[in-house]
Amino acid sequence: MATITINGNVKTIDVAQDTPLLWVLRDELGMTGTKYGCGMALCGACTVHIDGQPARACVTPVSAVADKPVTTIEGLASDPVGQVVQRAWVDNNVAQCGYCQAGQIMTAASLLKTTPQPTEDQIDDAMNGNICRCGTYPRIRNAVKQAAQTLAGEAK
Ligand code: FES
Ligand code: FES
Repeated sequence: MATITINGNVKTIDVAQDTPLLWVLRDELGMTGTKYGCGMALCGACTVHIDGQPARACVTPVSAVADKPVTTIEGLASDPVGQVVQRAWVDNNVAQCGYCQAGQIMTAASLLKTTPQPTEDQIDDAMNGNICRCGTYPRIRNAVKQAAQTLAGEAK
């Protein structure tokens, strides 16, 4: 049995403590916005925020989030920075097949929360671990830049 807080909601699930968070999200809670790519912490498709930090749900046992809030792509829509990032993604037509994009957006939102005005190198460093087979990297970079500009405007 595990009790976790996801997007502000407390959930109790009947699973073993070493069950990956990704399985809990997708199979137990039906939250399929977080994607399964490699299952080995190599692609970033499963990125969520744990206590505000980007983390790979495929290699995170559910026991590790017992006392730490989890935010998924479903929860990002009610987050001010998340909304700006999602708008920038739409404006830049970032997604191609879309499979990697939830993880990309979660990583970008995390970057902009800690570094609201990132340099190109900081963007590339932060996004480096999120693989996109469709090669949307230039549009991802542009969308992160647009989101940063929007956040700078809102801060004035
Ligand atoms: S599915 Fe978790 S990093 Fe690839
Ligand atoms: S948009 Fe297809 S894998 Fe990234």
